[in-house]
Amino acid sequence: ELPERVALIEVGPRDGLQNEKNFIPAKNKIEFISLLKDAGFQEMELTSFVSPKWVPQMKDAGEVIGNCLDDSRNFVLAPNKKGIEMAVESGVKHIAVFVGVSNSFNKKNINKSTEESMNELRPQIEELKRKGYFVRACISTSFYCPFEGKVDEYEVLKVCQEFEEMGVDELSVADTIGMANPKECYELFTLLKHHLRATTLITAHFHDTRGMALANIFASMQAGIDRFDTSAGGLGGCPFAPGASGNVASEDVVYMLTQMGISTGIHLDKLLEAAAYISPLLSKPVASKQFKLHQNI
Ligand code: HMG
Ligand code: MG
Repeated sequence: ELPERVALIEVGPRDGLQNEKNFIPAKNKIEFISLLKDAGFQEMELTSFVSPKWVPQMKDAGEVIGNCLDDSRNFVLAPNKKGIEMAVESGVKHIAVFVGVSNSFNKKNINKSTEESMNELRPQIEELKRKGYFVRACISTSFYCPFEGKVDEYEVLKVCQEFEEMGVDELSVADTIGMANPKECYELFTLLKHHLRATTLITAHFHDTRGMALANIFASMQAGIDRFDTSAGGLGGCPFAPGASGNVASEDVVYMLTQMGISTGIHLDKLLEAAAYISPLLSKPVASKQFKLHQNI
């Protein structure tokens, strides 16, 4: 049975921009976020507190957050103690940590083993939960790793359960390099739904490298998932995951779900305006189906 309503978490300002070669000034990032909020997104990843040497595009995180906080769920990503401290100082109330199930990927992305990251994050997350923060955990390489290949479902479950023990509110389970197929999505999310607490929010995060993302969303809904990370314009990709391309485009997901009678609360026209705003600032053209239809290209 399919859900009547689906929540979309807009990740364009973070995942969408982090790998963009052109530096986008903070004022343009802030306007992009504002246009996306006008389109109806209640949950969004705004930016990340990561090393400016590793990800120069996110070096203005403090300025972006300082201009964008409101009553909605505004996530900022933080990979370690230092990032979490910076996030707390910035005034956000919704913090997203991230870790890779695959050790080789986690080393490339955060310069630590998966276990080292989990050990560093545990006391930090427990402290955040004591103070009433909303904590989301993004779990990379939940299907395939660019270095290790297929990732075992029970390894994913183990990481999810550890985060659950720490008290995280939401798990965003990611196909980092867009290699999962619908059958694998159905199977992994069925397993996670079965073993995780009913109160833990489970979100699916798809990159569309091989054009499987919409089919993967459908299969995930059949397994009971009703929350998806999407990116305006289909922008995105992790700089440390060779072969990763953009996230599934928010506008294509909104279109598909609306046509299926599933509500998202997002205005497609306004969302396309946000994509049209950011498009000329980027080094490559926006390629989502809805964007191209709308622009007659
Ligand atoms: P490191 O070099 O091992 O860090 O990098 P370190 O602890 O040795 O510190 C080196 C310097 O970085 C120090 O400064 C620290 O203060 C500073 P210095 O003394 O040299 O001036 N530093 C920081 N600065 C800002 N923010 C921080 C921070 N931490 C240390 N949080 C580090 C380790 C984690 C910092 C680095 O590897 C890093 O920044 N990685 C981020 C990688 C990243 O952003 N990846 C993309 C996001 S994840 C993703 O896209 C996947 C996702 O979408 C899901 C999916 O699709 O799979 C979520
Ligand atoms: Mg991603």
